Amino acid sequence: MCGNSPAANPPGKPVEEFFAEDMAVRMIKTLTQTTVGQKVLMAVTGLILFLFILGHLSGNLLIFAGREHMNEYAHFLHEHPKFLWPARIVLLFCFFVHIVAAARLWLKNRSAREEGYTIYLPIETTIAARTMIYGGAAIFFFLLWHLLHLTFGVVGPRFDPNDVYGNVVRGFQNPAIAGIYLVGVACLCAHLYHGAWSLLHTLGLSAPEIDCAKKKAARILAVLIGLGYASIPLAVLTGVVR
Ligand code: HEM
Repeated sequence: MCGNSPAANPPGKPVEEFFAEDMAVRMIKTLTQTTVGQKVLMAVTGLILFLFILGHLSGNLLIFAGREHMNEYAHFLHEHPKFLWPARIVLLFCFFVHIVAAARLWLKNRSAREEGYTIYLPIETTIAARTMIYGGAAIFFFLLWHLLHLTFGVVGPRFDPNDVYGNVVRGFQNPAIAGIYLVGVACLCAHLYHGAWSLLHTLGLSAPEIDCAKKKAARILAVLIGLGYASIPLAVLTGVVR
C-alpha cells in the first residue's frame, strides 16, 4: 500500500503538511537513534562549541592589553543580557547534546567490542582519537571548576565581579590554580587535535586530495588554541602580567 493513501493522512490535513511532519519525525529519529545521527549531532554542537572557544580565547587575550581593556570587554558582555543569555542557553544546550551523544556512541562501541568482531578491520587511529571520551570528561570537570572560580567566585582567592582582570591574575598567581588550568587546557588541546578534523569529516568536508592538508590545518589550529590559553597562566606565573 502507498504511504499517501487517505487512511494514512488524517482528515482535514493538507498532504504537503502531512509529509513535512513525517519528514521532521524521521529526521529527529535519524539524529537521535542512529550512529550517523549521533555523529552529526556531535559535529554540529562541536562546531558551535569550537567557535565559542575561539571567541572566548580572543576575549581572554585582552589580558595582554591591560586591566582596562579586559574589564571593559567583560562589562560590555554583562551590559547586554539580551545577547548574553540566549548565547549561554545555546552553549549549555550544545554541551548537553555533545556529551549525551558522545556517551551513547562510546557505550555502543564498547558493547560492540564486548560482543567481538566477526571480521577484524584495523582502522587508523591515534592516542588522541582513542582517548576522546576521557579527555572530554576531564574538560567537563575542568569547566565546572573554572565556572566556580571565575564566574561564580566560590573557589580560589578573593573574587570581585567588577574586576575580571584582577580575578584572573589573583587566581593564576597561585601555582596550584595555574597548574589546574594548564592541565585543563592540555586536555582541551588534545580533544581539539582530533575533534576539529573529525567534525569536518563528519560534516562531509572530505576529499582524498584535501584530507591531509585539512588534518594538518585542524591540528595546527588546536595547538595554537592550546598555546593561546596556556599563555595566560604562564604570563601571570612568570610576572609578565601582574
Ligand atoms: C586560561 C584560560 C582561561 C581563562 C583566563 C578564562 C577566563 C574566563 C573568565 C574571566 C570568565 C568569566 C567571564 C565573566 O564573567 O565576565 C570565564 C567564563 C567562562 N569560560 Fe573561561 N577562561 C579560560 C579557559 C576556558 C576554557 C578552556 C573554556 C572551555 C573549554 C572556558 C569556558 C568558559 C565558559 C563556558 C564560561 C562562562 C561564560 C559565561 O559566563 O557565559 N574557559 N572564563
